[in-house]
Amino acid sequence: MSTFEASSYIVWKFILVCMVIILILLVGSSYSLCEFEGLFNFGDSNSDTGGFYSAFPAQVAPNGMTYFNKPVGRSSDGRLIVDFLAQGLGLPFLSPYLKSIGSDFRHGANFANSASTVLPPTYSISVSGLSPFHLGIQLSQMKQFKAKVGDLFTQQKIRFGRGRRLSYECPSGPNLPSPDIFGKSIYTLYIGQNDFTSKLASLPILKDYIPQIISQIDATIKELYLQGGRTFLIFNLGPMGCYPGFLVEIHHESSDIDEFGCVISHNNVVNDYNKHLKETLTQTRESLKGASLIYVDTHSIILKLFQHPTSHGLKYGTKTCCGHGGGDYNFNPKIMCGNMAASACDDPQNYVSWDGIHLTDAANKIVSKAILNGSIFDPAFPLHKHCDLHPIDQF
Ligand SMILES: *[C@@H]1O[C@H](CO)[C@@H](O)[C@H](O)[C@H]1NC(C)=O
Repeated sequence: MSTFEASSYIVWKFILVCMVIILILLVGSSYSLCEFEGLFNFGDSNSDTGGFYSAFPAQVAPNGMTYFNKPVGRSSDGRLIVDFLAQGLGLPFLSPYLKSIGSDFRHGANFANSASTVLPPTYSISVSGLSPFHLGIQLSQMKQFKAKVGDLFTQQKIRFGRGRRLSYECPSGPNLPSPDIFGKSIYTLYIGQNDFTSKLASLPILKDYIPQIISQIDATIKELYLQGGRTFLIFNLGPMGCYPGFLVEIHHESSDIDEFGCVISHNNVVNDYNKHLKETLTQTRESLKGASLIYVDTHSIILKLFQHPTSHGLKYGTKTCCGHGGGDYNFNPKIMCGNMAASACDDPQNYVSWDGIHLTDAANKIVSKAILNGSIFDPAFPLHKHCDLHPIDQF
């Protein structure tokens, strides 16, 4: 054989092997057909699956006690909404982009980082307590991720042209997706809570920031669209005025508490923010041709959980499971969950609030069901028509 014949023989052999593998994958996955091959998430501790603790290592028990049986970098006793979403879509849990050991990005990546804000923090983490990985950085990381996947894919093709062996699954490299994943993925954004809480002390100042926060989110969505994203789920902000942590920490008059024990004025600002976000997305939707831009009203379902926990199979609303001090809230800002002196309840499955700020596995599961059954999407987006959804109760 001439060199040319030898290399074209290898090309054909390779194409054949790839086709057989694709066929096997198609047959094997016929039970879980899904238009979406990946999930890319941006956010804060509400959706951080270990990014912050990869950058700033720590093992904060008893986080993870219910589902993972050890701390895994999530601020909950178990799974977060993004975890249930992955399970529902038949995808693996998302690896944090910052996790350098044992990550698998074949079905997306998680850019979320605890204590992250939408707007860049003014002071370093040691002063502000806010993560340096704000939304702008998370977006640059995503662009870099996409560029590298593209580069490696091209490099492999060149190397292969010289007759070397290509990885058998035909992606860009081990644990990386193929470059066409970006148009076939769901992009979730769940961020803004820390922009709020870092300015909660002054409601008028906070109100002035709302348009800036939302326009930054809007710009991020438009940039992700330019990067090839076509399906966006944008989560609104939860009723922070009901979170035990804020009920204890933020000064309020007793007349400012509603019949469910939530701070009225703070919940009103959240409502203003959510309304503004929804309006902005309505406008942006017009300009994103061929895309689905969905406003996800997580607020409505979380509010229901705080107001009527028992109607959803839970027991306690504004009382913290993992905290210190007992009483109505069981929350002490100086001895928070993770502190040696704090302790967790025995029955987190009965609580909405895990640590005063974040939700329990049980509450996240109820919110996720509402997302997967399409009841809190605006406009309607029948996920089940795009994807053979897995019932999350089985996990
Ligand atoms: C969707 O799920 C939520 C949360 O479990 C539930 O409250 C709601 O009734 C469900 N809606 C539909 C239409 O199934």
